[in-house]
Amino acid sequence: MSSFSNILRDIASLPADSPMSLPGSLYTSEEYFHNEVEIVLRKGWHCLGRVDEIPNSGDFFTAQLLNEPLLVVRQSDDKIIVLANVCRHRGMPLAEGTGNTKRFICSYHAWTYDLDGILLRAPRMKNAGFEPKNCGLYKHNSHTWNGFIYVNLTSGNSPFKHPALDDLLTNYESEKFKLAHVAEEVWNTNWKCLVENFMEGYHLSVVHPETLHSYTPTGLARKLVNGPGFTSYAANYPKNIPQRGLGAPNLTEDERLRSTLFSIFPTQVASQAASLLVSLSIFPLNAGQIKVKWTLSTYGNDLDEKTITNRIALWEKVNQEDREKLERMQGALSSYHAGSGPLAEEDYEGTIRDFQLWLATHYQT
Ligand code: FES
Ligand SMILES: [Fe+2]
Repeated sequence: MSSFSNILRDIASLPADSPMSLPGSLYTSEEYFHNEVEIVLRKGWHCLGRVDEIPNSGDFFTAQLLNEPLLVVRQSDDKIIVLANVCRHRGMPLAEGTGNTKRFICSYHAWTYDLDGILLRAPRMKNAGFEPKNCGLYKHNSHTWNGFIYVNLTSGNSPFKHPALDDLLTNYESEKFKLAHVAEEVWNTNWKCLVENFMEGYHLSVVHPETLHSYTPTGLARKLVNGPGFTSYAANYPKNIPQRGLGAPNLTEDERLRSTLFSIFPTQVASQAASLLVSLSIFPLNAGQIKVKWTLSTYGNDLDEKTITNRIALWEKVNQEDREKLERMQGALSSYHAGSGPLAEEDYEGTIRDFQLWLATHYQT
């Protein structure tokens, strides 16, 4: 194990002007993946989706993050909480998929919980030692930010705080964006590959010649701010491109003329534009496989129905273009010859360097 963390530390300690990529083994080794789950992934804040996926009290959706089945619920006071989707009797999941309910009734022996996870009823339980109040569903640390829902699987871990990213995104009014589309897919790639792919502008013109190149060519990509736990870059539009919705009133001309791509490590990558917000949540399954849940949201009434349908189709195509590349690369990353390669300059791949440095902070001796 220490050899993997040594490799990561060595790469992270390279001079800033000669960064290198991580070698293939860090994307393919199951041994390293298991270590990452404990050292990196269980300690991070993970985006589970948008708050308006569950707009009404009693609405819920489920998710599986690492080994944890999760139940994301909007309570009667409108607050969103994340419960362990694991019955306190003998471990049955309480809900599947999405829905609306007043209480969760276990399908196995009918223990019944309220929306807050408190045990209301356990039929035929006369054991002297049984204390219903000690048998509520476990409540995870959760947080909402800019209309996104986050969970952290480690209790007492550092709070969700990204002031520099707040500043970067404030004019977009991200929390006002309304959900237009949710989809889930399984991709055969390592979770870090998708973070890196989404966050570098170097591949845009090569991989997306018809879908993205005319709006966000590689040559106009510029690195933006980074900070503890996040990075960002601007995928700038050419000056003469037609405006695609005005977005929020305080947006600057520069902000209107770009997509602001950001990643909140470890598993959220997103593209914030004036009228369109696309976010991918990555759920790592094993070293070579992830589930991707992506959402597309729009600002006010900026885009009509037909334009929204076109945008969804465009993003489906973009995601397929990236997926095809990442799945082919995953096969080659097991090669003995998949070593470290030199990274492109700051504006194109500086975000990958930020990600490496953040990963390495988990392995400090
Ligand atoms: S496992 Fe849920 S009631 Fe028995
Ligand atoms: Fe891409």
